[in-house]
Amino acid sequence: MASKFARPVLALVATPVLAALLAGAATSGGAATPGAPGAGDPYFPLSGNGGYHVAHYGLDLDYTPATRRLEGTADLAVTTTRKLSSFNLDLSGLTVDSVRIDGRRVAFSRDGAELTVKPAHALDKGRRFHVVVTYSGVPEHVTDPDGSPDGWIIQPDGSVFVANEPQGAMTWFPSNSHPSDKSTYDVRVTVPDGWTAVSNGRLRDRRSRAGKTTFSWSESKPMAAYLSTASIGRFETEQYVTRSGLPVYNAVAPSQAAAAKPVLDQLPAVIEWESGLFGRYPFEAAGAIVEDAPDIGYALETQSRPIYDRAPSIETLVHETAHQWFGDSVTPTKWQDIWLNEGFATYAEWLWAAEHGGLSTAQQFAADYALPATDSLWSFPAGDPGDGGNLFAKPPYERGAMVLEKLRQTVGDRAFFTILRTWAADHRYGHGDSAQFIALSKRISGKNLDALFATWLYGQGKPATP
Ligand code: ARG
Ligand code: ZN
Repeated sequence: MASKFARPVLALVATPVLAALLAGAATSGGAATPGAPGAGDPYFPLSGNGGYHVAHYGLDLDYTPATRRLEGTADLAVTTTRKLSSFNLDLSGLTVDSVRIDGRRVAFSRDGAELTVKPAHALDKGRRFHVVVTYSGVPEHVTDPDGSPDGWIIQPDGSVFVANEPQGAMTWFPSNSHPSDKSTYDVRVTVPDGWTAVSNGRLRDRRSRAGKTTFSWSESKPMAAYLSTASIGRFETEQYVTRSGLPVYNAVAPSQAAAAKPVLDQLPAVIEWESGLFGRYPFEAAGAIVEDAPDIGYALETQSRPIYDRAPSIETLVHETAHQWFGDSVTPTKWQDIWLNEGFATYAEWLWAAEHGGLSTAQQFAADYALPATDSLWSFPAGDPGDGGNLFAKPPYERGAMVLEKLRQTVGDRAFFTILRTWAADHRYGHGDSAQFIALSKRISGKNLDALFATWLYGQGKPATP
């Protein structure tokens, strides 16, 4: 066993970024040291960085579908959390033309997806500054450990499906790409006339000049980098305000328009229904981006405006909309807790089915429980996927929903829905982890739920009794 583990560890410290990660973690106090190249998440050790928080991203992008070329300027409002001699941003591929801190050019270097910014003088703890990176090139998406494409995914016609969970943000802008850091965003995208660029939040401005159109979007609520998007296509767009005053912006690939319409038309009703269950809708805009890119194989809950690789089913719309509370507003601090996103969004689908002529949530639980012990459902615990390649496999979704049904059956409907609403309210626009969810469930129900979570959230294999 020892040699099995020793070998990869030695191989890892041999790389400069991991050596710096270990060095950064070990130092403290007055000396300025390099910021760590990772946020400390074992699933994706180099995602995110140490030593600072990004309060705001101002992205100014220009994309040419014919050449696939992206030119970008990223202006990050940064606050240091300790004294730094240098710090890292996550950026994969592309050419960096310059890096400036508060207007002055500074040195930088690159190593894989780590962009190291080297200011002339150390940055004190608590220092606020702007770092501006200008860059260009043809972005290349990454392939996740589960084999899915992730990031700036260019389609054969030059349109772009931009979905960053878990690590794709680095393929199109320099960022602190870990869910533990959340920031507000202004995203401006310039595309040739006839193309539309869609991002998160509200469309503030749209103007055409010399054959190009610039779309200016802003997301005013904190957002994790993995939830950002700037998707580009020859979309049909639709804009309206719901009866409760929420602005909706839908962008749909023409080939998907007919199939998407009856489902997208239900978005206001789904938001209203979920608001009744989970508390007020957290964002100031809503909508959908529907592409014709079925090879991608997934949809993503991009903040305020989920992205779909094809016309969604109502179940998928319900799922991505539920993520606006669970995942987007309340965000995990580490990827291990992905069930707080996927289990909750899947449970929303169960609730929807139960109210629309499908199985009750208890029947859904029973149907899952009936799966044989050899089914992939039981391959690892929902609360401990163990590896970044397992995040979007069956257990965090389906077993995650089973945890919630088990909780509901144990504490009763009244306490259960109070737990869900309190979770969404207490952690709104911030973070939450599994330990906090368990503590909240115990506090609200007044019950000792340790055995329930030990068995259903963390237990290996199929529990002996349902
Ligand atoms: N969070 C998305 C959903 O369940 C799935 C993202 C899948 N991403 C991936 N890289 N496999 O709605
Ligand atoms: Zn999901």
